[in-house]
Amino acid sequence: MHVTHLSLADFRSYARVEVPLDPGVTAFVGPNGQGKTNLVEAVGYLATLGSHRVSSDAPLVRMGAERAVIRAAVRQGERQQLIELELNPGKANRARINRSSQVRPRDVLGIVRTVLFAPEDLALVKGDPGERRRFLDELITARSPRMAGVRSDYDRVLKQRNTLLKSAALARRHGGRSMDLSTLDVWDQHLARVGAELLAQRFDLIAILQPLADKAYEQLAPGGGPLALDYKPSSPEIEGHAREELYEQLIAALEAARKQEIERGVTLVGPHRDDLVLKLGQLPAKGYASHGESWSYALALRLASYDLLRAEGNEPVLVLDDVFAELDARRRERLAELVAPGEQVLVTAAVDDDVPGVLAGTRYAVSEGTVERV
Ligand SMILES: Nc1ncnc2c1ncn2[C@@H]1O[C@H](COP(=O)(O)OP(=O)(O)O)[C@@H](O)[C@H]1O
Ligand SMILES: [Mg+2]
Repeated sequence: MHVTHLSLADFRSYARVEVPLDPGVTAFVGPNGQGKTNLVEAVGYLATLGSHRVSSDAPLVRMGAERAVIRAAVRQGERQQLIELELNPGKANRARINRSSQVRPRDVLGIVRTVLFAPEDLALVKGDPGERRRFLDELITARSPRMAGVRSDYDRVLKQRNTLLKSAALARRHGGRSMDLSTLDVWDQHLARVGAELLAQRFDLIAILQPLADKAYEQLAPGGGPLALDYKPSSPEIEGHAREELYEQLIAALEAARKQEIERGVTLVGPHRDDLVLKLGQLPAKGYASHGESWSYALALRLASYDLLRAEGNEPVLVLDDVFAELDARRRERLAELVAPGEQVLVTAAVDDDVPGVLAGTRYAVSEGTVERV
């Protein structure tokens, strides 16, 4: 698929901007702070209902404005769709598809698919487990949009279970009546059911992603691998890959952790506590890999995601935000060759020279909130 027109109102630094887009490569070039990333961030938002830079919507709304609107015309084969998202921080966001407002924002997922690589991605390798969980879960949702519902169900169940555990912990500390634990049993079952579904998807994804990431790393940094993606569950009991066995294992792990959970007042078992250990050779990349290796690793994960989504149909838009300046000449050329044939590739760069020659395509100059074709 590709975006044929992007239109923003009160999004980030833009009061209004209209950007017609072609398939193939489009580069947005301009000095720092002029609004290049803001444009591709909006495209990414359509695909994930979130920003790759911030975890809440408030910073996405132009200072002084009440709401932001992202509108995009999207073409997939012969099909043309118009999607519109209204961001209302503190209130419910709204969506329209082909001018119909009888939809939820979540229904927009799957229309625009993106793989976005940005300097922030270094945190995939060097950052907290939450960064890697989000990477997995966003890719899972891109593969199968209905998983957005499973993810939000999980978050809801977890929150309610934590509330229950917190009051149990408080009651215990203050010597009050001990809680009726049968309520907790019910929440264990909810958590295990939804958690098993999410876990099964993560295991499935990692099995497919691993060889693709290894291949991408080899292309970027020949001889530097191999890569291994080792999933590390919250509890040693969890080792199955199919949903039913994962359910049983989660139930058993929750049972084993219950005493500790009631002491601490928080859920200690489940996919929200897991990590994905990224190994380079025998060592975990986090804490061991050099800056350059970490950078290549993060890029390899994104390229693998791109390969995967392409292979599964409906080609995503590839977004490369400010990445060429970070790479040495050889890796720059390799990356450019790998991505040049994509259906739509959006690149941002501070100067023309950072955009490799094989990525000749449409150029826009971005300066002080204006976006002009050059
Ligand atoms: N909510 C907002 N309201 C107004 N301006 C914003 C908002 N969020 C970001 N900006 C401005 O956008 C600019 C950064 O844009 P960005 O796209 O990240 O730049 P770059 O061209 O370097 O990628 C900064 O000047 C910042 O102050
Ligand atoms: Mg930028």
